[in-house]
Amino acid sequence: MVELTIDGRAVSVAPGTSILEAAASVGVDIPALCYDKTLTTFGACRLCSVEIEGRANLAAACSTPVADGLVVLTESDTVVDARRTVLDLLLSDHPQDCLICEKAGDCLLQEYCYRYGVEHTSFVKGATKNFELDDDNHLIQRDQNKCILCGKCVRVCHEVQATNAVDFAGRGFESTVTTSFDHPLNKDFCRFCGQCVDLCPTGALVNKQLKGTRTWERQKVRTTCPFCGVGCNFDLNVHEGKVVGVTANYDAPVNAGSLCVKGRFHTDLIDSPDRITTPLIKRDGVFEPASWDEALDLVASRLLEIKQSDGPDAIAVLSSARCTNEENYLLQRLTRAGLNTNSIDHCART
Ligand code: FES
Repeated sequence: MVELTIDGRAVSVAPGTSILEAAASVGVDIPALCYDKTLTTFGACRLCSVEIEGRANLAAACSTPVADGLVVLTESDTVVDARRTVLDLLLSDHPQDCLICEKAGDCLLQEYCYRYGVEHTSFVKGATKNFELDDDNHLIQRDQNKCILCGKCVRVCHEVQATNAVDFAGRGFESTVTTSFDHPLNKDFCRFCGQCVDLCPTGALVNKQLKGTRTWERQKVRTTCPFCGVGCNFDLNVHEGKVVGVTANYDAPVNAGSLCVKGRFHTDLIDSPDRITTPLIKRDGVFEPASWDEALDLVASRLLEIKQSDGPDAIAVLSSARCTNEENYLLQRLTRAGLNTNSIDHCART
């Protein structure tokens, strides 16, 4: 183990641990905009700078490994000054429409400006970014003016989702995170998993389903995704008794925060007006609403008829991952023991 001191506390961690992670292990929170424990280290924002006794320069805590005997100061005057300068520079080219920004209350840039008392930029306004809002698709809104180029979206897309839909382009004030040839974000190359939106620290990427509700107004209810048999966990976001969207849950044992397009965006079916809420029976080619008793009697009598006339193997049953294990078990019992056929399958097996 490597022994070092962080803010006067003795810390003992495995070799290769970064100073940022070592600090976190003893409850010292070093601010970080471009770091995420699920991604490779990027070292772009420098907000995590710390002072190491005996070294002339500040070190980026996210990308500096621990070493025996280091004495680290995470909130010295020099460090705080450096962080204020970083935030000041970021604000010099940031819209600062926090009063109406969808990310207010959930924005890391806002949180750190509050923590370090940076109210506005001290730089004279010169050239700034001036991009049009990309509101073309119905799931993700992109505002390049709010992008701080932390690269989390790029890395999660490459390293975790292996989709490679976006990357950096341009230089200086023209720098953006965009698709190849700046095409609109569409399903030809983006799988709309929404992981980029989840990790974006500012309002540059917004989940449009959550627009119009504030993060503190939404109750988070942890649940298991009903869309397939994998069993991913996520948080349903509930506002005034209605599910308005989904956010990732990074301690989920099966998916560790990763979601697919269905889990992330398709809970809107819950309140869809297209849902069938009553059984339908086709009469003379037209579906008509029926009671559950009528529907179940019809299914039971038809299955019996087919079994008697053509044998049990004329019947096949397909069950669904959206049912519980218990329901699927009961259906296979009904199929094998009741209908006497083994022709049963499950949509998640394909
Ligand atoms: Fe370390 Fe951004 S978090 S440089």
